Parts: sequence; C-alpha cells; structure tokens
Amino acid sequence: MNPGTLFDRYRELQLYVGWVPSDADRLTAAAPLLEPYIDRLVDDFYAEVEHHSGTRKVITGGHAQINRLKLTLGKWLRELFSGAYDAKYVERRWRVGSRHVEIGLDQVFTNVALSRIRGGLVRGIQESWQGSEEERNETIRALNKLLDLDLAIIEDAYQAEYSARLQRTERLATIGQCAGGIAHELRNPLNVVKTSVYYLLNARSPTEEKKAEHLRRIERNVELADGVITSLSNFARMPVPELRPIRIEVLLREVLELNPVGEAIELELDCPDGLPPALGDSDQLRIVLGNLVRNAREAMPEGGRLAISARAPGEYVELSVADTGTGIAHDDLIRIMEPLYSTKARGLGLGLAIARSIVEKNHGMIEVASEPGRGSVFKVRILAAPTGTEEDEVP
Ligand code: HEM
Repeated sequence: MNPGTLFDRYRELQLYVGWVPSDADRLTAAAPLLEPYIDRLVDDFYAEVEHHSGTRKVITGGHAQINRLKLTLGKWLRELFSGAYDAKYVERRWRVGSRHVEIGLDQVFTNVALSRIRGGLVRGIQESWQGSEEERNETIRALNKLLDLDLAIIEDAYQAEYSARLQRTERLATIGQCAGGIAHELRNPLNVVKTSVYYLLNARSPTEEKKAEHLRRIERNVELADGVITSLSNFARMPVPELRPIRIEVLLREVLELNPVGEAIELELDCPDGLPPALGDSDQLRIVLGNLVRNAREAMPEGGRLAISARAPGEYVELSVADTGTGIAHDDLIRIMEPLYSTKARGLGLGLAIARSIVEKNHGMIEVASEPGRGSVFKVRILAAPTGTEEDEVP
C-alpha cells in the first residue's frame, strides 16, 4: 500500500476506535511508569517464542537473532509511548506484518503475542499508577485503542502480502496452463505437417494424387495452427469496439459464409423484415457469431439442426444460436465462458471467453442454456441502434 493511502487508512481507523488527541498525551505521560517493565516484557516474550515449535521454526539465526529481535521489540514497545503516531510510525507498523509474512510467521502467533504484550502493559499501568482510578482507566483505554490500531495495520499488511502472493501464484499457474494448452494445440498440426513434408521429400515415386493429398493436409493443418494463433491474439489485444449500426441479416449471412455448417446440418435462419440495426463493432461481432456457429457445428458431428434467429424485444437486438447437439453438462455450463476452460479434446478454451469479453465490451450480454443430449442455445443481446442512424450502417 502506498504510504499516503496507508496513513489515510490509519486515520480512518483512528476515528473508528474513537481515538482523540488526549489519548496520545495520556500514553506519553505513562512512558516513565512503563519503562521498568519493558525489558522484562521483552524477555518474557522471547521465552514464550522459544517454547512453541510454530514460532521457534522462524528463528533461524539462533541467539544472535533473538538478541537482535529483543532490541527491535524493545524499540517497538517504546514507540507506543512516543506520542508521534505519524505516517512514518504507521509505515513501521505495517512493516512488522510484511516482514512476518516474509519469514513465514503465521498471523495467529502475532495476534497471540500482541495479546500477551497488552496484558503485560496493562498490568504495568495498574501496578505503578499513582493518580486517580478514573485517569488510570482512561490511560488503559487509550493503550487498548492504540494496540488495536497497531494490530489492524499489521493484519492489513498480512492480508495485502498474502493476496499479492496468491495473485502471483495464480498468474504463474495460468501462464503454465496457457503455455501447456498452446503447446498441445500447435504440436498436433505441426506434427502432421512434419510427416507430410517428410513424405513429399522422401517418397520414391509418389502419385500425383498422393502428393495432392499431402499438400491439402499441410494446408489444413497450417490453417489450424493459424487459428490457434488468431484466437490468442484476439484474446490478448481486443481493441476498444467501434460501435456503429449493423444490419444483422447481412452480418449473419457473412458469418455463415465464412463458417459453412456442412451438408449434414440443417440450417434455419429466421431474421424478420424490419429488424432495427444493432449497435456494435461488426468485426468483433463477426468473431463472436463465428465462434458460436463453429461450436454448434462441432457439437453436432453426426448432423442436426442449427436455428439462428434475431428479434428486437425492446431496446436491444437479441440473437439466438440453437443447436441440437451433444449439449453441455451442468458443471461445465457454469464455467464454459471462463478463459482456458474447454470441454473439447482439442481447443484452447478461449472461444467463448473471447465471445463474452467482446459482447460485454460492446455493452451487451451473452447467456447459454443447455440440456445434455438435446442441445444448447446461446443468446447474445446487443443494444439496438437509435432510429435515424441507418445511413451509417455497416457492413
Ligand atoms: C505483536 C507481536 C510482534 C511484534 C510487535 C513484532 C515486531 C517485529 C518487528 C518490529 C520486526 C522488525 C521488522 C522490520 O524488519 O522492520 C519483527 C521482525 C521479526 N519478527 Fe516479530 N513481532 C511480533 C511477533 C513475533 C513473533 C511471535 C515471532 C516469533 C518468532 C516474531 C519473529 C520475528 C522475526 C523472526 C523477525 C525477522 C527478524 C530479523 O530480521 O531477523 N515476531 N518483528
């Protein structure tokens, strides 16, 4: 956390615990009373540390380290009564938490240790107090507030450090997963290309037919590899969409031309006349619909029906892509649009994640319903373009 934000947070917490300037005065006034207790408290603290395996294991430097830590703790204790609870003070308190995470000290030990310190200091005040009982209780209250604030900052530091670590681990895991997926997806087509090239270079007297077959295979697999790279770059740097009115029927026909469904699939296209144009980025929406059509085709390897329809219920245009394919299991359905989540033997698991990311950037929404064995329906909603903008229509 940057120092300015940290100090703001500290001041907010001060208000929360009801800290008032006179609390600082009371604690500075109590400093001479507590001085005789500090060294004893420090010794007691480290005697306890040496008793428990959870705390002992972080002391890797033996007595020399304990002696240094005793000095550090003594300084930390005296600072409690210095009266200067400024940004530097708060930064040093934060550092206790982050240093403890670095050395692998479980947070519970810090909490329990602080409770021990609190008990020792309160006892010190009670034993050595000379003034009125009311003043003494006010001083103890001020001390408790200060220790609560210290603990809150130490806890914040622990949490910030833990979540930064978690993010790093997750990022590394994602990179690993992604690299594994890409390697797998590229290795297959490259192996096919390699085998065909080997054949073309070494076959003694290949027929023209065989040569053509291998060349087609190379072409198909280069396209596959190219597809993997295209989806990765689509995912990595999808530009800000250029929202313009789009004629849905034209867009759908283009998508189907680029992604033919094949003869085994019966295609039904229902796009009524008078449908208002949608407001979106046509290049990006072409990617979305292309992914949905390809998924539908892959879900019906034995053939089936693909029904694509468009409606305009209210202020948006809704596209529905329904297939009669294998469907999606319930558990997969919840995660199907997450990046790198794939139910297919092949595929990076980016197609639907890209589709969702694009639709959301185009201010729309995408949802899916599915029944295993019966098929899936994907619905994409995009805002309808305001009337009177038809002249700018694309494509
Ligand atoms: C409320 C309780 C505690 C307080 C106030 C406290 C305070 C501190 C402070 C001020 C530092 C130095 C931070 C820096 O590098 O700037 C530190 C470091 C450390 N603390 Fe604590 N500590 C507490 C509990 C514990 C406990 C229970 C252990 C158990 C062994 C522990 C072990 C350590 C160790 C090993 C270091 C690293 C020291 C080094 O650099 O050698 N602390 N602590």
